[in-house]
Amino acid sequence: MESTTSLKFLDALNISEVPEGSNKAITLFGQSLLVCHSGGVFYTVANRCSHQQQPLEGGRLRGSFLFCPLHGVRFDLRSGMPTGTLTRTPIKTWPTRVEGECVQIAEPPDSDE
Ligand code: FES
Repeated sequence: MESTTSLKFLDALNISEVPEGSNKAITLFGQSLLVCHSGGVFYTVANRCSHQQQPLEGGRLRGSFLFCPLHGVRFDLRSGMPTGTLTRTPIKTWPTRVEGECVQIAEPPDSDE
């Protein structure tokens, strides 16, 4: 399991801005990220589908999965891995945690962006 102790987390938004079962696009680290709240857990992934590069904001959530609103590819929010035949390219994920009322996001240690 990936250690998060050395990561530098930034305050991204208040937990009330992303109610359970919803997602919200924000700009952080110079790019569009999608914060998802599903099953009591917050996840952060790239707000861009790896199929036709469309925004993932507004996609349906089920457990730890997000469905692209355009063609329905299912992404695992924990790994970014897609399911199905439309794309085999994972979307990027960011370590995410909750501190008090704040959702915090960190750049992954292997980030090159
Ligand atoms: S653009 Fe997301 S599945 Fe096609």
